[in-house]
Amino acid sequence: MARLRVGVLISGRGTNLQALIDASADPAAPAEVALVISSQGDAQGLARARAAGIRSEIINYRAFNAKQGFEASLDAALRGGRIDLVCLAGFMRILTPWFVERWRDRLINIHPSLLPAFKGLDTHARVLDSGARFSGCTVHFVRAEMDEGPIIVQAVAPVMPGDTPDTLAARVLGLEHRCYPLAVHLIAEGRVRVQNERVEILNATVANAIMINPLG
Ligand code: GAR
Repeated sequence: MARLRVGVLISGRGTNLQALIDASADPAAPAEVALVISSQGDAQGLARARAAGIRSEIINYRAFNAKQGFEASLDAALRGGRIDLVCLAGFMRILTPWFVERWRDRLINIHPSLLPAFKGLDTHARVLDSGARFSGCTVHFVRAEMDEGPIIVQAVAPVMPGDTPDTLAARVLGLEHRCYPLAVHLIAEGRVRVQNERVEILNATVANAIMINPLG
């Protein structure tokens, strides 16, 4: 069966991109990273795409007068690459409702908190300030409001005594690298359905429900 063609949008170091590339290296995987688009010419993630022999493009928003042109160019590149599913992976531009609607239910994001808590930037510092005992990460379908949308996969990490935003970020990032490929895998297998803005996972097992010992 043809593999699901995944386009990954990045702006920076691209460790989640790497996790998706590593997962698609298995020939039995139902999805493959077919295109990487960076909003920054110097993103480290571009070297990861090159190393894996994956086509990459730089679409820098500064080259456009308006968001419209930037997003039309993103959209054209994704369609030109016959992309089925778009993954935002540390993509630091907010997409307009036009783009989000064009890719509705084919556009997913990873966020380093247990949404709907701690949307937005400086997530880990705000988690620590709040005194929360747990954090984690969320993969969700993208909607027009930032960090909103039906939740596909989440995993939980404990906040440990003495944590700094960096130590907590590293613990959560380890979970992100497992959750993002899992979400893509479930979608590629046709097991993810959005109904009334909630995700239903078909034939769910405890292993999908998740699984991860963050200290292990
Ligand atoms: C990840 O932690 C991701 O969850 C976060 O940016 C980082 C990108 O790292 N995304 C957001 O905060 C989006 N709201 P990476 O470039 O190494 O994948």
